[in-house]
Amino acid sequence: MMKTFRTAVIGCGGISQVHLGALSKMENVALVSVADVKEDRARAKAEAFHCAYTTDWTEYVRDPDIDVIHICTPHYLHAPMAIALLDAGKRVLTEKPIASEVRDAESMIAHSDGRLGVVFQNRYNEASQRIKRAIEENTYGKLLSLRAAVNWHRTPEYYTESGWRGRFATEGGGVMINQAIHTLDLLLYFAGKPVSVRGKVSTDLLYDIIEVEDTAHGLILFENGLLANFYCTNTFGIDRPVEVELVFEKGILKTDAETLYETVEGETRTLCRSAAKGEKAYWGTSHEVLIRDFYKAAAEGRPFWIDGESAIPVLRLLKATYASSAQNGAEMPL
Ligand SMILES: NC(=O)c1ccc[n+]([C@@H]2O[C@H](COP(=O)([O-])OP(=O)(O)OC[C@H]3O[C@@H](n4cnc5c(N)ncnc54)[C@H](O)[C@@H]3O)[C@@H](O)[C@H]2O)c1
Repeated sequence: MMKTFRTAVIGCGGISQVHLGALSKMENVALVSVADVKEDRARAKAEAFHCAYTTDWTEYVRDPDIDVIHICTPHYLHAPMAIALLDAGKRVLTEKPIASEVRDAESMIAHSDGRLGVVFQNRYNEASQRIKRAIEENTYGKLLSLRAAVNWHRTPEYYTESGWRGRFATEGGGVMINQAIHTLDLLLYFAGKPVSVRGKVSTDLLYDIIEVEDTAHGLILFENGLLANFYCTNTFGIDRPVEVELVFEKGILKTDAETLYETVEGETRTLCRSAAKGEKAYWGTSHEVLIRDFYKAAAEGRPFWIDGESAIPVLRLLKATYASSAQNGAEMPL
């Protein structure tokens, strides 16, 4: 008989809706509770998704009837929450980034015992999967270079309405750790093991509101000799689709959000189209796919593939980019 996982979600803010919506469709999940320090938020989600609620997430640590917890809270809380829950024997799926600091992420890995997963849903996009396959199968010959660009828009209210954003202590960084992290993670997913980075960060627009960067660029060197460059900003006038471009000996692959274009011998064609629509389309559409896959691993009693070890390299990369910037663009080992 199929096991039913008893699940709770901590954090009832913006992203929780995506988790709760996915969970409510899954046959092998019983959502038992949601938690938020803001009681009105927890109550509203509990009513909408027919479950209990609490303002004290530590109840889950002591509750032997809860198997899985989703962490949808500010970045600095991922590590203390995950560690307490992992130590209590739970499976934990945390939103990105794994943690706000590398040392916290290392502690999570040390406590994880194969039960920790991290949400990097864009690895599941069809475009990402096709790119990964093209590299592995050598479809276009040798990969020569790759680049990524994130041009998004964040208002002053985005930061002032959720007080944890815009501060190093609670967010752990700015555009790199919160918005561009998915795209930076994809560069690593495609190109392999990074060995160093050089970069620069700045706060170009919201300098009187946030202490973290709203703009960053960098050059990543990989073990296989590849170079990848990235540019990311929250200062663009609107949210534009994320661009990732990979240039091979015999062709070019380029994404425009989740749409993937192939150019071979000057001819461009669409390989797959973005399914993302609506206001939050730039989050991507693959959360539900990832969540289902996380539970598949749980049902089979094995670790989820996007575990702590898989999620920490991008955190190391962006922290090394700050270090590089602080030393005027010096090369930082990863
Ligand atoms: N994967 C994605 O594409 C994606 C998109 C958006 C956000 N996120 C991530 O999701 C997480 C949450 O982001 P958000 O945009 O929903 O933030 P948010 O500020 O809208 O929501 C966070 C919620 O956590 C609650 N909270 C704070 N401290 C708590 C505590 N001690 N116990 C219980 N609840 C507590 C807050 O009251 C708030 O309701 C972040 O890690 C963010 O990076 C991921």
